Amino acid sequence: MAKTYDVLVVGNYSLDLIFTGLPQMPELGKDIVASGFAMLPGEAYTSAIAMHRLGLQVGWAGDFGDDEFSRFAIQQAESEGLDTRLFVRHHRPLRRISVAASFPHERGFLTYYDPDPAIPAALKALATASARLLYVPGLYYGSLLEAGLQLARARKMKFAMDGNIGCPEQAPGGLSNPAIRKAVQSSNLFLPNASEARLLTGQDDLAQALQALGQICPLVALKDGKNGSYAWAGGQIHHAPGLRLEPLDTTGAGDCYSAGFIKAWLDDLPIEECLRWGNIAGGLSTLAPGGTGYRVNPAEVRKWLPRLPETAS
Ligand SMILES: Nc1ncnc2c1ncn2[C@@H]1O[C@H](COP(=O)(O)OP(=O)(O)OP(=O)(O)O)[C@@H](O)[C@H]1O
Ligand SMILES: [Mg+2]
Repeated sequence: MAKTYDVLVVGNYSLDLIFTGLPQMPELGKDIVASGFAMLPGEAYTSAIAMHRLGLQVGWAGDFGDDEFSRFAIQQAESEGLDTRLFVRHHRPLRRISVAASFPHERGFLTYYDPDPAIPAALKALATASARLLYVPGLYYGSLLEAGLQLARARKMKFAMDGNIGCPEQAPGGLSNPAIRKAVQSSNLFLPNASEARLLTGQDDLAQALQALGQICPLVALKDGKNGSYAWAGGQIHHAPGLRLEPLDTTGAGDCYSAGFIKAWLDDLPIEECLRWGNIAGGLSTLAPGGTGYRVNPAEVRKWLPRLPETAS
């Protein structure tokens, strides 16, 4: 029988080694000692777990290897009670490791990825599972997009994509690149951060960047760190301010934001409420290391809703 979810998350885990409380950025020939450390799975794991904690039925189609890093990510997902039926376990290492030197407002990374399988878990899942929403936790405009979208549309799934881009070189030409344009155009909801929105549109001004994205995508949620977030919906710009807090580590804030926004959106809440749910889920995640160090559930979000600063405009 087809498995049915609220959200089908596609994409792989990473294993994040997060160093906090550093006196300076790592430097050749120097031993820099951190006062804080955490080891947590990240990338698609963050999205799947954040949505699951917010009460959504999540199916995560991810590939794993037989290495200790994959095993750790699987164990963590199992201990959260996440549905693991869409996991694909390969008989070879699939190590995806990221070492982060994390400062309250900036991070530097050192990363290693084993090659991805030719046919990702995502395509296998789309042939057997159904969901209200297909969610890709980063800008994807690769060769499998069309096939994936056809399968998703055949099952009447909506499509949402986060704007995560590893580095500017991964989005050459921005929206004037036909493949990138098509990916954004195919999304029912697109969630970039401010620098991704600027990079994709070539517009420095955030309102103009938002409008340019809104011309090809019906709903855009734009994350802007401590300033909160903006949405383009129904031809209008909406804004909700962020929580006032002192972040410890902003790793995964954007992914948690997207989870919060999507939870409210799937619950058919007004756009302003979706922005607030995103700001609370994203903001609270900065109070602990990684994207999942701080647990955000619906009761926690509702507790914070009255404490959000008022919108300026
Ligand atoms: N310093 C902060 N104070 C309050 N809220 C914050 C802060 N940083 C992030 N947030 C909240 O989290 C959301 C997402 O953060 P951000 O804009 O940094 O996303 P991002 O750059 O995509 O993050 P990521 O690095 O995880 O991809 C913001 O829109 C805001 O709601
Ligand atoms: Mg992001």
